Amino acid sequence: MTDTSIFPVPEAFASDAWVDAASYQRLYDQSISDPEAFWGEQGKRIDWIRPYTQVKDCSFSGDVHIRWFHDGTLNVSANCIDRHLATRADQTAIIWEGDSPAEQRHISYAELHASVCRLANVLKKHGVQKGDRVTIYMPMIPETAFAMLACARIGAIHSVVFGGFSPDSLKDRIQDCDSRIVLTADEGLRGGRKVPLKANVDQALKSCPNVGTVVVVRRTGGQVAWEDGRDFWYHEEMSAVSPDCPPEEIGAEDPLFILYTSGSTGKPKGVLHTSGGYLVYASMTHQYVFDYHDGDVYWCTADVGWVTGHSYIVYGPLANGATTLMFEGIPNYPDSSRFWQVVDKHQVNIFYTAPTAIRALMREGEGPVKRTSRTSLRLLGSVGEPINPEAWLWYHNVVGEGRCPIVDTWWQTETGGILISPLPGAIPTKPGSATLPFFGVRPVVVDNEGHHLEGATEGNLCIADSWPGQMRTVFGDHERFVQTYFSTFPGKYFTGDGCRRDDDGYYWITGRVDDVINVSGHRMGTAEIESALVAHPKVAEAAVVGYPHDLKGQGIYAYVTLVDGEEPTEPLRKELVQWVRKEIGPIASPDLIQFAPGLPKTRSGKIMRRILRKIAANEHEALGDTSTLADPTVVTELVENRQNRA
Ligand code: WTA
Repeated sequence: MTDTSIFPVPEAFASDAWVDAASYQRLYDQSISDPEAFWGEQGKRIDWIRPYTQVKDCSFSGDVHIRWFHDGTLNVSANCIDRHLATRADQTAIIWEGDSPAEQRHISYAELHASVCRLANVLKKHGVQKGDRVTIYMPMIPETAFAMLACARIGAIHSVVFGGFSPDSLKDRIQDCDSRIVLTADEGLRGGRKVPLKANVDQALKSCPNVGTVVVVRRTGGQVAWEDGRDFWYHEEMSAVSPDCPPEEIGAEDPLFILYTSGSTGKPKGVLHTSGGYLVYASMTHQYVFDYHDGDVYWCTADVGWVTGHSYIVYGPLANGATTLMFEGIPNYPDSSRFWQVVDKHQVNIFYTAPTAIRALMREGEGPVKRTSRTSLRLLGSVGEPINPEAWLWYHNVVGEGRCPIVDTWWQTETGGILISPLPGAIPTKPGSATLPFFGVRPVVVDNEGHHLEGATEGNLCIADSWPGQMRTVFGDHERFVQTYFSTFPGKYFTGDGCRRDDDGYYWITGRVDDVINVSGHRMGTAEIESALVAHPKVAEAAVVGYPHDLKGQGIYAYVTLVDGEEPTEPLRKELVQWVRKEIGPIASPDLIQFAPGLPKTRSGKIMRRILRKIAANEHEALGDTSTLADPTVVTELVENRQNRA
């Protein structure tokens, strides 16, 4: 695939789109030349209790701080629910499609209002106050969205922990933000398999003495252990409180949520997002990137445990009064037509998924797609990792039958919303390119010394100025925030991604340039997996790198040095994989483990990951300079016993 293949905006699409080519350019220019005026105007897209007079107060150097609309007050849940009631009380807010095709629910805005108010009252009854942290460890059911919005209603800060994380990972996240309450379900259900959520919570709470309350949604009816006085059934609590709960007045810069994400070092950090700017940005990008119009049915397949679920299942769509579909299941259950069956069943117009899902379905051939109609589809989206041109073309030609533009949306947990993406009525697309920046976003490409690279080039992707959806801090550790994002290239936000910019100014994200790997669109810190491995009694040392993987984008490759006297055996290899699954969660399972008597180190003892990455990628012909190694012979041994020979 070359850069020359370009897909023009379909004319029929452009004529009805919110933004066309001319208005994109005009608005983008305005957003950059006068951000105050631009965002001052755009901020009015949501309802404020006390209107802001200040728009932007941000600095990426010195005393790093990011504040938007900071003297305004609002309530996020009122923006996502109450303000729609006059016109949309009976409109479906959430379509829920269960794991089994036989299960579905339609929740109107009026019903959403009643449930969120009740749940907010349940939280209050259990002592939750403004600013308190609430951990949500729940499956993909509407109650999870109710929980997030109930927190927003009373100004509590939610921390959603992905249901695939282990009890240990859950414990770390509960402790880090000191939640006193956890919302969960008896069990989750995915692909016909049960996920023991309540049992995991019980396990985690053995080390979380501060948690006094657990509210449990009955999802499967499976048996769960019960601790009287601590555990409460959701349905019993909900029926015992009033459906009336006026929204609290919340400052624009008061926190809305914490979401833990992996970085290159240490434990996952609590990315903190606040209320006003986040909602303006999530709702605006949802409207323009997905060209959302009233009456559209919109489906984002992400899990609410990730930022994509926060911004583009819950907050963005609901702020826009949309109908948002929430899917409990997986793409190949009961069979690999499932996505497209759901599209037909609910007449989905806009469909947003991850490249890893597309690649997996592509492997099943066109049959499962062609068995369905998909005529309702108007727009397709991609997120989470670079989409390879082959998968892009299959998505475009087979799923969308050449009719639907694709928006390849680049962004991060830290950015709160989409930063680089086509606007489908304005920007011609190229397979594999996220194309151009959204309004107000100033991407810059720098070399390793931080020099700006102009024109067509390749380097490190930074953002030169703030946008309203940007994270504000690392919860409880502002210094780590400054260090992680603003110190590599002082004065700029460093994304951790590499990118190429072509002659048309289009951005092509090439993947992480730090020690973060992206496995099936899930972010993993190599340091986290390493520390899980070395916690095993037989492991002396471990180094983890990513390697190219056909389905997952990147696979996890672990080099493991055993303690003296331990034998490298197949059973031990399996045991280590299980060990990591248990320590972190299934998404962190190593794909390949190489037992390594020694790791390549510099004379000062630093592991040379560059070499490990090459060997893992089966590119050992091009190892580069190994002369600085303390013991160059370890490399020969590693190459001989490499595990990836593809
Ligand atoms: C990667 C997910 C290429 C990137 C929203 C980023 C992408 C990381 C794309 C953030 C894309 C996300 N093209 N790469 N369209 N979208 N990424 O925090 O490496 O889970 O830094 O946020 O995913 O992952 P996160």
